[in-house]
Amino acid sequence: MAKRTIVSMPGDGIGNTVLPEAIRVLDAVGFEAEYVNADIGWEFWIKEGNALPQRTIDLLTEHKLGLFGAITSKPKDKAAAELSPALRDKGYVYYSPIVGMRQHFNLDFCIRPCRSFKGNPLNFIRRSDDGFDEPAVDVVIFRQNTEGLYAGVEWTNPPADVRKALETHPKMAKFKDVPSEDLAVSTRIFSRGACHRICLGAFEYAKKFGYKSVTVCEKPNVIRETSGMITFEARAVAKDFPGIALWETNIDAQMMWLTKNPEDYGVIISGNMFGDIVSDGFAGLVGGLGFACSANIGKEVAVFEPTHGSAPKYEKLNPSIVNPIAMFLSACMMLDHIGEADKAKRIRDAINAVIAEGKARTYDMMRMTGRQEVLDQGAASTTQLTDAVIGNL
Ligand code: NAI
Ligand code: MG
Repeated sequence: MAKRTIVSMPGDGIGNTVLPEAIRVLDAVGFEAEYVNADIGWEFWIKEGNALPQRTIDLLTEHKLGLFGAITSKPKDKAAAELSPALRDKGYVYYSPIVGMRQHFNLDFCIRPCRSFKGNPLNFIRRSDDGFDEPAVDVVIFRQNTEGLYAGVEWTNPPADVRKALETHPKMAKFKDVPSEDLAVSTRIFSRGACHRICLGAFEYAKKFGYKSVTVCEKPNVIRETSGMITFEARAVAKDFPGIALWETNIDAQMMWLTKNPEDYGVIISGNMFGDIVSDGFAGLVGGLGFACSANIGKEVAVFEPTHGSAPKYEKLNPSIVNPIAMFLSACMMLDHIGEADKAKRIRDAINAVIAEGKARTYDMMRMTGRQEVLDQGAASTTQLTDAVIGNL
């Protein structure tokens, strides 16, 4: 088979640590690929006023597959202040490059599996009659990735025509005396097509991998229109999957239930923001950000990334202490996506073995506060953990 080309986007901070380690693991498992490095992140915002340069979009358009580390995002005022002086006051507006990438390529599926690893000291446990028990969590979140509150349709000081349009809604009456400059509006727009697609994707996944339930996790009792639409679509799609139960939960209650009976859930569907929240919640039960992987999948392009960010407080530590497993698991999702499931399984088995053995553990697995000294206290460095995984392949 022809060698694949993967667009490698390490980005900022610890993205630069974990992504090269994932490539080392991919090489070791015998995955033949070429990696082209692509620019993304804060440095390019500062220098070029664009954290997602066109040349990176071109590479993704050409090669279709991306591995992404993490980026640093900062609030509006900080972003403006750090822009190169030559570019200031020229109308550049900071926009998160990962959100931009999802929008540009319509990567409308964000899939976030949260599965516990046997022997992970960070696994969720709960009290039982004879001590404690450790429910095996195996949940896969299907988050609608391009719409809703993260679509970017928002204003502070909305233009007059926007305000006028909003005021056609009777509930705007209570804001009638608020001056526009004191109004901030972030819209939550859902489209039926996207709702349908994410629901169908979730059910198909549940069927393929034998999950017994799909839960649509939203808030239709209050956010009646948008949450209502995705719930309606979930019910419609569910009719074609008679063996799979459809459950409906509200995001707030779900965040409580996931620490009571996490083993009851299988596949979960949510809009963009609630999907972000509920996936972090489940990730916390299986080891936290060091274990949380994700795939952003569109019709043409797919980008695989750990859920965590750039963790700037650790970026300068040398040797690095961060956990690369989330990045490895994201690379496994890429292998699954391109029909290399056997190699993905070998990597996951090796990770299983390292965790179960417990000899190589990064600081987070040892519940230490992250700092350089952890390496003297028995924690594995990022590289040592990677070596342990490779050693088990
Ligand atoms: P973060 O995920 O970067 O870090 C939060 C904390 O989680 C860290 O301080 C660390 O204690 C822990 N952590 C994260 N990754 C870890 C790993 N691999 N191993 C061990 N511990 C790990 O989130 P934070 O601090 O909220 O944001 C930092 C920057 O990252 C911000 O600029 C934010 O905008 C950006 N960010 C980017 C994301 C992306 O690239 N997709 C996602 C989330 C945040
Ligand atoms: Mg998040």
